[in-house]
Amino acid sequence: MAFQRWRFLAEILLLFSYVFISAYVAQGRNSEKNHVTNINSKLKFRRRPALKSIRSSDGDIIDCVDIYKQPAFDDPLLMNHTIQMRPNYIPDQDTMDIKNKSSSRTTLQIWRKNGSCPQGTIPIRRVRKKDLLRFKNLETFSSKKQTHSNRSLVIYNTTTAVLGYQPNRSASILIATVTHYVGAKAGGATDYESVKSGWMVNPKLYGDTQTRFFAHWTTDGNQKTGCYDLLCSGFVQTSHEVALGAAISPLSSEGGTQYEIGIQLTMDPKTGNWWLLYNDKFDLGYWPRSLMGDYLRSGATMVQWGGEVYSPNVARTPHTTTGMGSGSWPQGLFGYASYISHIRSVDYSYSWRYPNFVAILSDEPDCYAAYHYVPGFMEEPTLFFGGPGGFRNPRCP
Ligand SMILES: *[C@@H]1O[C@H](CO)[C@@H](O)[C@H](O)[C@H]1NC(C)=O
Ligand SMILES: *[C@@H]1O[C@H](CO)[C@@H](O)[C@H](O)[C@H]1NC(C)=O
Ligand SMILES: *[C@@H]1O[C@H](CO)[C@@H](O)[C@H](O)[C@H]1NC(C)=O
Ligand SMILES: *[C@@H]1O[C@H](CO)[C@@H](O)[C@H](O)[C@H]1NC(C)=O
Ligand SMILES: *[C@@H]1O[C@H](CO)[C@@H](O)[C@H](O)[C@H]1NC(C)=O
Ligand SMILES: *[C@@H]1O[C@H](CO)[C@@H](O)[C@H](O)[C@H]1NC(C)=O
Repeated sequence: MAFQRWRFLAEILLLFSYVFISAYVAQGRNSEKNHVTNINSKLKFRRRPALKSIRSSDGDIIDCVDIYKQPAFDDPLLMNHTIQMRPNYIPDQDTMDIKNKSSSRTTLQIWRKNGSCPQGTIPIRRVRKKDLLRFKNLETFSSKKQTHSNRSLVIYNTTTAVLGYQPNRSASILIATVTHYVGAKAGGATDYESVKSGWMVNPKLYGDTQTRFFAHWTTDGNQKTGCYDLLCSGFVQTSHEVALGAAISPLSSEGGTQYEIGIQLTMDPKTGNWWLLYNDKFDLGYWPRSLMGDYLRSGATMVQWGGEVYSPNVARTPHTTTGMGSGSWPQGLFGYASYISHIRSVDYSYSWRYPNFVAILSDEPDCYAAYHYVPGFMEEPTLFFGGPGGFRNPRCP
């Protein structure tokens, strides 16, 4: 398979959180096998009655399902849940203004060219038999007991964050912490709670190498709870316009137009639900507070932005040839490297700003890197990240 050169932008705004906002790549280059480690969860697939189905030109089928019949309501915990249709906070206006002036454009979901879902329904990417067959394999190997170790990371000279090591994952990320929480609870490698969103390529999960918008949650470090998209009960979707797991288009090209995806994860000040906003204007839905454990109920301790590669062949020789981001090194900067701009976090006063304390972490800097680029005096940093992995790269073992 020819390596498809693509790159992407992720625009991300965040609340303090033990959140991974990740751009994943698990792309098969040549015939390499890739694994996704954490799609455990109690996967319960039930085809739901669709009021309408849309055949997307990329091969997906999108079912428009009654909003009250979505997977979230299979969970007895959410039996009496009243849907919150809108978040109670005001999204960051400043970022919207920047975006308006930006030279890049927002990417859209492919299925929307072939129709739309009516109000009162939500679009669900249909899971088919062939997907289930792949998931079976996923489930067996992810339920294996994982061994964890910890790494500590000094964020400036003030805070130490303890990060769980995740097997078969190579990450290049920017990390921000909330000082007084860190050390107390952020550490646990096995018991962390997280919500995350972004774009990824994941053949095991989706059956192809398209770039897709995804969301993921867990409340126990991926041991028993959580899943991607709407594959298990958890996420309550409110938008009838955006489908989790759907492919996005167009993609950025080398030296050409750069396309963005805007992601915002924020805890609602009134309800405590964790909202996910897509491209600034779509209140996609939320993970209900009642689903969360103690950590994410009270806010969050850490935020991560960046990229990850999952493969059994990270941290070993021969190293996977899967690239992260665009496959280019972050030093290539705008037009070449994958990046995250307009990075924001927000505290309980709901003032959005670039986080005070940040640090860069690269598991394998010779394979994938992250670069915190400050363009000029008084300008705010942009995170460039990615790399070729072992692809034509003798430095990566
Ligand atoms: C839902 O409401 C019913 C009736 O009021 C009650 O019996 C049940 O315990 C509630 N379930 C949950 C999970 O709160
Ligand atoms: C973006 O620009 C357009 C045209 O100048 C304007 O109508 C719109 O209100 C702006 N949007 C935001 C969010 O500022
Ligand atoms: C979807 O829309 C595209 C572009 O409008 C069109 O070429 C294609 O035939 C449509 N596919 C289906 C299955 O309707
Ligand atoms: C990792 O850190 C957590 C929390 O600080 C601790 O409970 C656990 O024992 C550590 N694990 C290892 C392998 O060091
Ligand atoms: C961190 O570094 C700054 C500047 O070098 C210094 O003023 C400050 O005292 C240091 N803080 C700690 C906790 O070491
Ligand atoms: C990591 O990859 C190895 C193969 O190198 C595999 O045996 C193991 O199950 C994988 N671990 C996880 C958690 O996926």
